[in-house]
Amino acid sequence: MAETRTRYGDAVTEHLADDRPVVAVANRLPVQHGDDGWELSPGGLVTALRPVMSTHSGAWVGWDGGAKGMPATLPDMDVRLVPIGLSATQIRNYYHGFANATLWPLLHDAIEKPRFERAWWYSYRDVNAIFADRALAALAEEPGAITWVHDYHLMLVPQLIRGRRPDQPIGFFLHVPWPSPDLFARLPWREQILAGLLGADVVSFHTERYRSNFVRACARLLAGSGIEVRGTEIMLPDGRVVATTASPISIDAAEFTQNATAPGIDADIEALAEQFAGRTLLLGVDRLDYTKGIVERLLAVEMMLERNPEYRTSLAFLQIAMPSRDNVREYRHLRATVEQHIGRINGRFTEPGNDVPVHYLYRGLSQQHLAAYYAVADALLVTPLIDGMNLVCKEYVIVQDARDENGILVLSEFTGATGELPQAILCNPFDVEGLSYRIENGLGLPAEIRRAAISEMAAYVRKHDVHRWVAEQLTEIATRGAKAAAAAAAREAG
Ligand code: G6P
Repeated sequence: MAETRTRYGDAVTEHLADDRPVVAVANRLPVQHGDDGWELSPGGLVTALRPVMSTHSGAWVGWDGGAKGMPATLPDMDVRLVPIGLSATQIRNYYHGFANATLWPLLHDAIEKPRFERAWWYSYRDVNAIFADRALAALAEEPGAITWVHDYHLMLVPQLIRGRRPDQPIGFFLHVPWPSPDLFARLPWREQILAGLLGADVVSFHTERYRSNFVRACARLLAGSGIEVRGTEIMLPDGRVVATTASPISIDAAEFTQNATAPGIDADIEALAEQFAGRTLLLGVDRLDYTKGIVERLLAVEMMLERNPEYRTSLAFLQIAMPSRDNVREYRHLRATVEQHIGRINGRFTEPGNDVPVHYLYRGLSQQHLAAYYAVADALLVTPLIDGMNLVCKEYVIVQDARDENGILVLSEFTGATGELPQAILCNPFDVEGLSYRIENGLGLPAEIRRAAISEMAAYVRKHDVHRWVAEQLTEIATRGAKAAAAAAAREAG
């Protein structure tokens, strides 16, 4: 927090967000019903926001995911859970439809073709209105709270709240990329989405490129509406000013270090070391999503096995794929394709009397178990065709460093993380053959070079961890919100 204070100067310290309640609004509540009862759900957004829940009071408004009997709070957390139930039609049209078959592919550079259906859009509007209503009710119970709206599911919410609470500090963070204005222009409801976001005081992105794409989309698609772009700020006709920022999200590095060194991990590591004894282990960890470049990764591994017969007994590739959105047809197709490739590669390259070269887990793992995989993997292959940030690579370098290991990180240049981790072996996953050579070359690097790269990347992640990100974001929202309220009061008086 100290650095944030310096950045904004003394004049605004009274608006700092340390002790203000936060009303977070995100598609999902951060809990699910697991084998041992209610627990935090996995996923980047939850991982990132957990520190807010343990350090701030307030509320979290989100979809209950269909679970019944959710507790009102979680142990060790002050935040109240405000569950929203959605009907089967809303889940189909708002979540599977508009969020995950229209916006998700559109915002990921239309890597799969976005589908546009009016019924989905109407449902998106309706569900955003429900979230806004519940957030307004939560705000009424949390005087002085900051509103923090998250991700592409809820892009109309800032404006819906602004309409009823003109003085409310509102921040919006997009956890996925923002594409070029040309691509965004394909959306039939582009003006409404932009106007929805401009209800916030601050609209934030992972990278400068996504931020500037958004500002250019506003300038182009809202031309004639009276808005004016000045640098990173957008002036609205009613005198409001919307700030835009680039602020890469991160992980709780201390927690991953702890997982990596906790006594319980040793048994897991030993078991994995035994399973993959004598083999160089390449690892992939992703939600099973077509943005992640899993197929390209498998094809690159196949090329390596083809070129180097000795790899067939000395190399293993393990893909951990977490089930995701399997009600959306593109995701079902992807699963079938991935599993077909794995079957083919193992069919081609398993040597008699030897284990298969490609291993596959179709399930989520706890952070503790994942840490063991990160610890034993000689290489992590992070090869998305496009990824807003990617936190898996940050987790890997922290665990490797904590265990004094010298694995390599092969990182797609189309991830948000690439700008922060230049010591990684950067790759272009669209060039499958090139990718296969990048992995091979990386494995051949001397141990001290690999160790130095891990250690530098881990030092960066420890410094730019999620606590710093949360503090910066909340301070920005509080500061901008206070400025906006002061400017509105001045306009009214004058
Ligand atoms: C991405 C999105 C998150 C989302 C997560 C899991 O990381 O940015 O908002 O929660 O995927 O996807 P799901 O559809 O299961 O919530």
